[in-house]
Amino acid sequence: EMDTNRTTKWKGKKVLITAGPTREALDPVRYFTNYSSGKMGYALAQSAMENGAEVYLVSGPTHLEEPQNVRVFHVSSASQMFETVKHLYDEVDIVVKTAAVADYRPKQTVEHKIKKNNEPLSVEMERTTDILHYLGEHKRNQFIVGFAAETQNLKEYGTKKLVSKNLDAIVLNDVSQSDIGFDSDQNQVIFLTRAGNEQFVPQASKKQIADQIIHLIDNEIGKG
Ligand code: CTP
Ligand code: CA
Repeated sequence: EMDTNRTTKWKGKKVLITAGPTREALDPVRYFTNYSSGKMGYALAQSAMENGAEVYLVSGPTHLEEPQNVRVFHVSSASQMFETVKHLYDEVDIVVKTAAVADYRPKQTVEHKIKKNNEPLSVEMERTTDILHYLGEHKRNQFIVGFAAETQNLKEYGTKKLVSKNLDAIVLNDVSQSDIGFDSDQNQVIFLTRAGNEQFVPQASKKQIADQIIHLIDNEIGKG
């Protein structure tokens, strides 16, 4: 049944997709994370595979089933995701970075469970590496697509990310609306390219959105 959907459009292309949240440990029983479900990234991996690509999916912790015919690398923290992505980066043609990577992690992960007392607790946090920024800086000829999760000023903030991270395109995602984005089954996005091409992709299932994003990336690659 799945094979009827498959094309060979991206045969020979290697695609790296990151998905899901990351977990940043505080102690053996606690961590910091976010609401990302991984659904958008898994749908993109499925779409890219159906188009004939060889797909590497680097996934943070999710409850999703692994897509068939995709190579899945499971990671937990932002630093593990960074190491895995760096390792695969040189051999891929296209990168789509849907993962909601933690921006901060506890400066120290303590060995034993923190015991409560009656004082307020502060946790010192430090920055994680911006993986996408690193990829943009070390780009050879990969086509790099970022995601921007915003609750306001979608286009302004998204455009800044596109430029500052040296991306070829960015998918703008308004996560302030609960029926689209993050944990939802539906999404609605704006696809923005470095050249200023802007495409609105109206609300649909994440798989339908993924199919359209793959199509839009394909158009852009075709121009180069
Ligand atoms: N990203 C990344 N590594 C990080 C943080 C973000 O690779 N440590 C990537 C995400 O995978 C996404 C893009 O950067 O493709 C934008 O993520 P987002 O959280 O929207 O933007 P930030 O640059 O982190 O800025 P901010 O959270 O302050 O809006
Ligand atoms: Ca962020």
